Amino acid sequence: MRIVEEAAAAAAEQVVTPWEVSAPEGGIDYDKLVDRFGCQRLDAALVDRISRVTLRPPHRFLRRGIFFAHRDLNKILDIYEAGEKFYLYTGRGPSSEALHLGHLIPFMFTKYLQDAFKVPLIIQLTDDEKFLWKNLSIPECKRLARENAKDIIACGFDIERTFIFSDFSYIGGPFYENMLEVSNRVTFNNLKGNFGLSPEDHIGKISFPPVQAVPSFTSSFPHLFPGKDQLSCLIPCAIDQDPYFRMTRDVAPKIGFQKPSLIESRFFLALQGEGTKMSASDPNSAIYVTDSCKQIKAKVDKYAFSGGQDSIELHRELGANIDVDVPIKYLNFFLEDDDELEHIKKIHFPCWKLKQIMHYETLSYPL
Ligand code: TYM
Repeated sequence: MRIVEEAAAAAAEQVVTPWEVSAPEGGIDYDKLVDRFGCQRLDAALVDRISRVTLRPPHRFLRRGIFFAHRDLNKILDIYEAGEKFYLYTGRGPSSEALHLGHLIPFMFTKYLQDAFKVPLIIQLTDDEKFLWKNLSIPECKRLARENAKDIIACGFDIERTFIFSDFSYIGGPFYENMLEVSNRVTFNNLKGNFGLSPEDHIGKISFPPVQAVPSFTSSFPHLFPGKDQLSCLIPCAIDQDPYFRMTRDVAPKIGFQKPSLIESRFFLALQGEGTKMSASDPNSAIYVTDSCKQIKAKVDKYAFSGGQDSIELHRELGANIDVDVPIKYLNFFLEDDDELEHIKKIHFPCWKLKQIMHYETLSYPL
């Protein structure tokens, strides 16, 4: 009996690794995740501090708790307040022709951070990672990296302060030396626990994590940061990338570098709703930045999980259930105006859902 209960508990357990995100019904329990990963919650006091230090109102991703966790973010703010510099580092594993809206979240936020702090930015395209994990050829991974770079550039980063590179074209020299320094200090046992890898996984997967670790150290980019080996690094990403940087933070002091700081977001949901993130592996779960308005409308109509009630009468009485409704969750990410968002939740939104229920042909509110 106990074995059965334990098996049921394990089956209901959420899984969050860089390669798999799944949760039992009810969605991801982010509180649990913060405790399990050992990162810190990004609370209102810290959001206020970011706003004070940058002399800007907080980004909506901060106001709405979308970026909700961090590691040593205070350290970065201390550095900045002391008049010193830091740099930003983020990335993309090019597994699809275009970015989807979920991928856009860290890039949009990084753009805000770069504008607010006026700091250099490194963007890594892990085309090698996708070769190791997806059934794609090396030329195809390189091509996708180039295509994805266009979407990333379109976010509008400061071209004087931004360096984008693909692993296949850049790795070598001091970058590779740092990779080996990291590899030397991480055991398979440590990796297994952190990343959910097993002895059956091929050694490419096992040897990859140092590749994503070392852009956290300026000495991997001597042409960009000559003589500045100790510049601190802030990494914006979704929380699925945390295992890479837990490992990096463990190793950094052992090889004479600063631990990188992190600021981490929740997941942008799949169209199907709670339980998983929008994923490039499932095209029906995702809206791509290259989708036309017509395609977006068709996907929302067909796949977006609705909080509408079962009948028009019930819907009139209760309104939509905004706790599970996907369109309102998407608006939470993308609609800037807080008052308008509240208004839609309270008044417009139920009407809009009602129209959907009544099979109106067009959506009255754009995503
Ligand atoms: P990738 O390509 O899976 O994702 C790119 C970035 O988007 C985030 N992300 C999401 N954010 C919100 N909602 C979602 N549904 C969603 N799906 C993905 C990811 O957390 C990531 O920040 N190995 C990495 C590439 C990488 C990287 C980095 C990422 C290399 N260096 C440094 C962050 C920081 C990858 O495959 O990301």
